[in-house]
Amino acid sequence: MRTPLIAGNWKMNKTHLEAMRLVQEIGHELADHDPRKVEVAVCPPFTSLRTIQTLIDADRYELVLGAQNMYAATEGAYTGEVAPGMLKALNCTYVIVGHSERRELLGETDDEVAAKAALAFDTGLIPIVCCGETSSERAAGDTRSKVEGQMRAALGGLPGERSRSVVIAYEPIWAIGTGETATPEDAQDTISYIRSVLESLFGGAVAGDIRILYGGSVKSGNAASLLKGPDVDGALVGGASTDAAEFVGIVKAAL
Ligand code: PGA
Repeated sequence: MRTPLIAGNWKMNKTHLEAMRLVQEIGHELADHDPRKVEVAVCPPFTSLRTIQTLIDADRYELVLGAQNMYAATEGAYTGEVAPGMLKALNCTYVIVGHSERRELLGETDDEVAAKAALAFDTGLIPIVCCGETSSERAAGDTRSKVEGQMRAALGGLPGERSRSVVIAYEPIWAIGTGETATPEDAQDTISYIRSVLESLFGGAVAGDIRILYGGSVKSGNAASLLKGPDVDGALVGGASTDAAEFVGIVKAAL
């Protein structure tokens, strides 16, 4: 049984003071939430991780913490970067790797994504590995080959057992922050294809345990239909995750 995951990617939004208010609102709304039914993660900017960790612990919110990125080294002379061990020490459960904004705006390569995913595991973090096609790749019918290439590059080097806990996020790039979404059928179709790629990498038992999320303009109003596909195990939510009512609405749609 795969427990659905709704993860909020706050991107470069919210000062730590604003983040405090947002997580309090979300935590309060989800006070009676059962995390065995749907796991809920928040991924604020680095500057808010400590603040939010403290609030989650003190007020016992049914939330887990994730980071939006990490550097693929344990420590050293990497000015401005953050090591996975630093995230682990802040009680992070997840770390997003290979988000399309990092790939497109910051030139992150498949090799870097693979190195980050492997080191995240070594550090005891669960990577949320992102993949997705651009609109021109989609128009050219290249969606499957794009996501397959990204998955094989990011995960191919991992031993199968270890990969059981990885989380994949399928995020069509043309749907991110645009208000456009894949149809529920397209989301299910691509995600089930990703699962077949995972099967070829790790075998059916492991692939059957891996959670694959949809991301791209998920909102409270469209979440139920986007999440209904049998292979769609939750959502990676950007814009709507910085509005407590919207985000909680998405969590409720996943129940
Ligand atoms: P969006 O972003 O929900 O604002 O489209 C999703 C993401 O980038 O993870």
